This record gives sequence, C-alpha cells and structure tokens, in this order.
Amino acid sequence: MIQEIFHPILKDRLTLMRRKETPAKDFRQAVEEIATFMIYEVAKNFKLQEIEIETPITKCKAKILAEEFGIVPILRAGLGMVSGALKVLPNAAVGHIGLVRDETTHKPIEYYKKLPPNISSKKIIVVDPMLATGGSSSAALQMLKDAGAKDIVFVCIIAAPEGIKKISGDHPEIPIYTAAVDESLNENAYIVPGLGDAGDRIFDTL
Ligand code: PRP
Ligand code: URA
Repeated sequence: MIQEIFHPILKDRLTLMRRKETPAKDFRQAVEEIATFMIYEVAKNFKLQEIEIETPITKCKAKILAEEFGIVPILRAGLGMVSGALKVLPNAAVGHIGLVRDETTHKPIEYYKKLPPNISSKKIIVVDPMLATGGSSSAALQMLKDAGAKDIVFVCIIAAPEGIKKISGDHPEIPIYTAAVDESLNENAYIVPGLGDAGDRIFDTL
C-alpha cells in the first residue's frame, strides 16, 4: 500500500529541499520538519487504549497510545528524519541500519545494524528520505523482519515508481508513506526530478 500524504506545508518544504541552491542548514531543517509532519499524519492510524487517571479535579477515563514504537533510520540520510520523528513519538526507541548503495551496481551494502530490544512487540517506523530502486529499503525491511519485527511501516519523502514496485512486491504487507511520487530514475538510479543525494545534502558532503 502506498499513501502519498498531501499537505500544503509538506509540498512547500519539499520544494525547498528540491532546489539545488538550498544550503545544507535549510535542507536539514526541512527534512526534520517534514519528518514531524509525516509521522503526525501516519499516527492517525495508531491504536489507543483507555486508562483511568486523576486530574487535579477528579478521576476520569483517558486515552494513551496503545503501542510501543521503534524508529529505525537507514543511514545516513534517514538520520535526518529521527529528531523530527521523536518530536511526535518522544518515547520511541531508535535503532540504526547502515546501508550504502554500490555506485556501479546500485545494490545496497550493509555496514551497521543495531536494533531496539523487544522488536517483535513494537511498531517499527523505518525512515529514509529517498526510495529510489527500493534496494536499500527492501533490504532494511527484510533485516527487521529477520530480527522479529511484525508491525512495520516505511516513511520516505520522495518515492520513485520503481522503488514502490519493489517494496510492494517484496513486502506487500508493509505500508509506504511518502510526501511525493516522482517520475522515474535516471541512468545512475537517481530520482528524477528528485533532490540529488539526500545524505550529501543533509551532511554537506557534496
Ligand atoms: C540513499 C538513500 C537511500 C538509498 C535509496 O542512500 O538515503 O538509503 O540511497 O536508494 P535505493 O532505493 O536505490 O536503494 P545512499 O546509499 O546514497 O547512502 P547515504 O545515505 O549514506 O548517502
Ligand atoms: N539516493 C539519493 O540520495 N537520491 C536519489 O535520487 C537516489 C538515491
């Protein structure tokens, strides 16, 4: 399932990210803000549980989030979304998956993995700004399933049709949320029109 989240504020920040003249400072801030807005939207579907509390006035029934959460960025660019996601889910655990695309084959190479404990009882939110061929995110989702995760959603900022097809084929049960679906990939497997290399733009390593 792919869901493109439509919101004027999201589209405006995304345009800032796409512009080639946007400096790293503003790019990074936009990634963080978009992550907050997107996770807030995604959380519309989260389950609530009823508890009893006491206000200064009286006892009453109240609602809290029913699940525990894990946020898992795909390094490096996914790191840019973590602080924004934690604004919405401040009690979430944070795991890390390090994957880098081989420049020639465009296949992901794993270099790091540290996942939250009790992963099978948490709702896992994988974040990465870019879904291009889908190789990195599909591998990350498989690593999480292999580690026992049962409830996973994937949140990106720009998705290419090729990546959506790959994730939908490899992991049909995992919802994909994106702020935009772009046209295609170029010969170097970069998203068109896209925004270039998200990791380099966040960390100013162009
Ligand atoms: C980028 C991006 C995704 C991946 C998407 O990471 O952050 O993880 O490419 O491409 P794919 O869908 O074709 O796999 P990259 O490998 O450039 O590493 P970086 O974040 O460290 O720059
Ligand atoms: N990774 C990026 O950072 N950008 C793309 O366009 C494709 C993969």
